[in-house]
Amino acid sequence: MALKSFLSSFLLAAPLALGHPGHEEAYAHRALPLERKSLAHCQTEFSAPEFVKRTVEIHGQELARLRRRLGIETRMKRHLDPRDYISVSEIDHKSGTVVYKGMDLGTLFADSGACMLTPAADLGPLYVQGEGIRKDITGGEAGIKLTLAIQVVDYTTCQTVPDAYVDVWSSNSTGIYVGVQGYPGMGDPEDASILQGTTLRGVQPTDSHGIASFDSLFPGHYQGRATHIHAIVYLGAQKLPNNTISSGRAAHIGQLYFDQSLITAADKLTPYNQNRMVITQNTQDFFFMQGANGDDPIARYALVGKDLSEGLFAWIRFGINQQANRDVDPAAWWTAKGSVMNPNGAVAKLNGGGGGVGGGWDE
Ligand SMILES: *[C@@H]1O[C@H](CO)[C@@H](O)[C@H](O)[C@H]1NC(C)=O
Ligand SMILES: *[C@@H]1O[C@H](CO)[C@@H](O)[C@H](O)[C@H]1NC(C)=O
Repeated sequence: MALKSFLSSFLLAAPLALGHPGHEEAYAHRALPLERKSLAHCQTEFSAPEFVKRTVEIHGQELARLRRRLGIETRMKRHLDPRDYISVSEIDHKSGTVVYKGMDLGTLFADSGACMLTPAADLGPLYVQGEGIRKDITGGEAGIKLTLAIQVVDYTTCQTVPDAYVDVWSSNSTGIYVGVQGYPGMGDPEDASILQGTTLRGVQPTDSHGIASFDSLFPGHYQGRATHIHAIVYLGAQKLPNNTISSGRAAHIGQLYFDQSLITAADKLTPYNQNRMVITQNTQDFFFMQGANGDDPIARYALVGKDLSEGLFAWIRFGINQQANRDVDPAAWWTAKGSVMNPNGAVAKLNGGGGGVGGGWDE
């Protein structure tokens, strides 16, 4: 049954999938509800002085940490590159200057700006479930350091959501997702060593102000998709003794994006400039169009140092529906032995089941 219905949908998608490796996420162009919601109604809560002050403090501490790492004195006024001065400048700046005198962080963080809402984003075919709780997900790889702070809020009550777990994953600077074997165009499909990787995958809890933050790398582009980062917000998950979470409930599945100008600048730097995969611009990406349909799925950012190669700090706010419970169909599960492909996951199915680990599914 399942095989038949899968095969018919695969056959429909096959000419595209086989002709253009990398376009396989076309598999997911099934009807998704197009929700037109925004967090505009939360403006009162989000601009309340205490809310702004805490957001500024938490984001400000993260940026200060990154700047110290570069040896930059945090009190010194340095070049910062806010994405959108105009909307940010409409917010009350006072509480920001209390925290970091001279840095004007209030203008940066008072408006967490970019808002992403439920659900509007597909899980994609490359999710590995069960990754560890860790802040640094760079795996020591080369790339532009990206610290990403995600603030989770309830879109009905406009309150922050503490004690949630945010699970993120993205491609590396040369456009490869580690942890999944056999995705077309992403490494040798016969090479199982990719299953040992966890780079650019990890889980963090939200703090008392709903913020989870990761030390990651700016993702690389790959064919068929604009540069993006995936995220799931889990509610009701418990931390397990082995530093993973019980899965809980996926209340939000999202994808966040970056300014095209930032992506273009990143693609000029090593190792991004070694990535030969075809570039898809934001405005050519179906999922971006869907995500930007009434919302702003682009992260705001600031350069940590004087230029992009010294790293980025990016932030975004997710408006979630705490009642939602979305299906999660991972490509693989992370275990003590590395990733184990899900024989019924999207990638294993593309390869006829099994994804190099024996397959064999039960019809
Ligand atoms: C990206 O990941 C692939 C697979 O693990 C690896 O071969 C490649 O070297 C990585 N890119 C960088 C820049 O480390
Ligand atoms: C962590 O523990 C859970 C529950 O026992 C298990 O299912 C999972 O595979 C473990 N993960 C790792 C990476 O050891």
